[in-house]
Amino acid sequence: MGELTASLAHEVNQPIAAAVTNANTCWRWLTRREPDLDEAREAVSRVVKDATRAAEIISRVRQLFKKGAPQRELVDINEIIREMIVLLGGEASRYSVAVQTELAPDVPKVMGDRVQLQQVLMNLMINGIDAMKEADGTRELIITSQQAEAQELMVSVSDTGVGLPTQHSDEVFNAFFTTKLHGTGMGLSISRSIIESHGGRLWAAGKATRGAIFHFTLPTS
Ligand SMILES: Nc1ncnc2c1ncn2[C@@H]1O[C@H](COP(=O)(O)OP(=O)(O)OP(=O)(O)O)[C@@H](O)[C@H]1O
Ligand SMILES: [Mg+2]
Repeated sequence: MGELTASLAHEVNQPIAAAVTNANTCWRWLTRREPDLDEAREAVSRVVKDATRAAEIISRVRQLFKKGAPQRELVDINEIIREMIVLLGGEASRYSVAVQTELAPDVPKVMGDRVQLQQVLMNLMINGIDAMKEADGTRELIITSQQAEAQELMVSVSDTGVGLPTQHSDEVFNAFFTTKLHGTGMGLSISRSIIESHGGRLWAAGKATRGAIFHFTLPTS
């Protein structure tokens, strides 16, 4: 969270500074002897855009800290996967994405925060769908669960999208790293901190063919 707080200040400061600049510009166009309303309107619409961006970032962070103490209950990860598939079914079919699962029938339950784990799956699945929106060819989102080691289960989310951004594949977990026009770049950073708070790991890999695959583990004892 330390890194998050540091980059948060920087990230929110940028649109706010831009908004101040644009507000000043707007004020100058309005207070000239002959006010230029067109220029003023344009400047003020940039203010709206900047301020909205800052508000988006703040609301995303607030969501992250909204829940007080994390809940701990025994959760069935397969059930969470199935729930999220139902929830994101509309989004998937809108972009012609076929969702498949290979769920190990007897994975042990994990001690965890159901809502947080749902959030992780949602972030990974939406990222996968996003990565396929522009890609040609088959669009498959495959979610698997399996017993990884004696007291560990592993969930994988694989897509056939554009693949991890070359040269930045290590940075995708950094807070605010995004290649999307309207992305906050917080999804993976939040997801990793959730999984680590559960005693697991979250990482990404490229695929030999195309697309990306994300894995996370959770302790089961
Ligand atoms: N499945 C994927 N395939 C290809 N690139 C990905 C994938 N998942 C993440 N990335 C890359 O990692 C970046 C960071 O992802 P992250 O989820 O943290 O933020 P985001 O999706 O850009 O924004 P947000 O989650 O706030 O909507 C993405 O912008 C994208 O470049
Ligand atoms: Mg995301």
